[in-house]
Amino acid sequence: MRIAMIGTGYVGLVSGACFSEFGTNVTCVDKDETKIAKLHENIMPIFEPGLDKLVENNVSGGRLEFTTDLTEAVKAADAVFIAVGTPTRRGDGHADLSYVYAAAKEIAEAMDGYTVIVNKSTVPVGTGDEVEKIIRETRPDAEFDVVSNPEFLREGSAIEDFMRPDRVVIGTESERAQEVMRQLYRPLHLIETPILFTQRRTSELIKYAANTFLAAKITFINEIADLCEKVGADVQAVSKGIGLDGRIGKKFLHAGPGYGGSCFPKDTLALVRTAQQFDSPLKIIETVVEVNAERKKKMAQKVIEACGGSVDGKRIAVLGVAFKPNTDDMRDSPSLDIIPALQSAGANIVAFDPEAMTEAKELLPNVEWKENSYATMEGADALVIITEWNEFRLLDLKRVKELLKAPVMVDLRNIYNRQEMKDAGFEYSCIGRPKLEV
Ligand code: UDX
Repeated sequence: MRIAMIGTGYVGLVSGACFSEFGTNVTCVDKDETKIAKLHENIMPIFEPGLDKLVENNVSGGRLEFTTDLTEAVKAADAVFIAVGTPTRRGDGHADLSYVYAAAKEIAEAMDGYTVIVNKSTVPVGTGDEVEKIIRETRPDAEFDVVSNPEFLREGSAIEDFMRPDRVVIGTESERAQEVMRQLYRPLHLIETPILFTQRRTSELIKYAANTFLAAKITFINEIADLCEKVGADVQAVSKGIGLDGRIGKKFLHAGPGYGGSCFPKDTLALVRTAQQFDSPLKIIETVVEVNAERKKKMAQKVIEACGGSVDGKRIAVLGVAFKPNTDDMRDSPSLDIIPALQSAGANIVAFDPEAMTEAKELLPNVEWKENSYATMEGADALVIITEWNEFRLLDLKRVKELLKAPVMVDLRNIYNRQEMKDAGFEYSCIGRPKLEV
């Protein structure tokens, strides 16, 4: 088996590397020459734990290669995966499919013999039909099938998620294409991963329905957290209490500053637009989008309150700016709302993130960046934790207190114990848990 993976973004690069680890020959293609040149030197375009080693091993094993030459890669492939970006289209919130369609046209021109074209990018319902049309118009006699095979991996645990998924969804009614896909995923079949064959449109919708459901689950617990603060209840105990009910499930019930990242914000919005277009509005998801956007802004207010009602002229130390730990991704990170709002209120921000600072420097101007957690908090009026990197979980509280001008900590990820913070003499604010007076 030989596959071509078009696009070396998060999904393309991780999926390509993982398929090669399964023993398939993979050629990853990207138009960006600098990116491909770097990949030839084993320099990854993203930070993802374990990815550099995986790529290195499979390149030296002769199963994985990188090129800018789409034609050659497609010609030789039994299956061609489209894993290009589907960003939010400016102006209307729909997914921008121009990269997908451009890839489809190029693939059509290059393919040789029966080829399965697999959409791995997250695409609105009906995109597979459109891709099929483009290919058919370009190559009326070609033998091919277009399959939807959404990817559910999470950043930061992408390799494990790909290698041990909860399920694989494959949308095609062509038995010939099903057989090719079955072969590609055979290693997962061996570990008894459910492989779900559906119609193509259904498969496209499954991906959006999964992401929007999870975004709604997070938003639900975030609103319950707000209510907990008002009524004196503890959101962590509420999460546990409801999550133990098998019908609800305990995952994705961590209250926090609002979801961000490369998928949830873009996919919730895109599904809302699709639903409106088909005159079948998803009011729940419309509200989720609105509540999450407001929440990120509200988090700055929480910091201001913790600082006694004003941050004007104050020095605020921030730990973590990436949208989640174990990634350098800043896309739609809550920090992009919180930090500018604090700056507008007059605060001077000093910050540290273990991996995301290079990208963050471009997006967050006038921030003083530091090399480690302790250097960040020196002389600050308050410490704010925005992202729950492991290295922020066990700070030396005595040292933190000595370094800070005032012992104020705002923990937007609930990674500290309230009693411990009280005993250490901190004014500690968190999410959805009653305050213990010092
Ligand atoms: C998500 C989906 O999980 C994945 O299946 C899909 O393929 C891509 O989108 P990702 O964005 O990488 O993955 O990260 P995820 O771990 O899902 O977190 C998304 C956002 O939700 C983050 O901002 C995270 O902090 C937040 N989150 C997640 C919470 O606030 N609470 C939770 O309980 C879980």
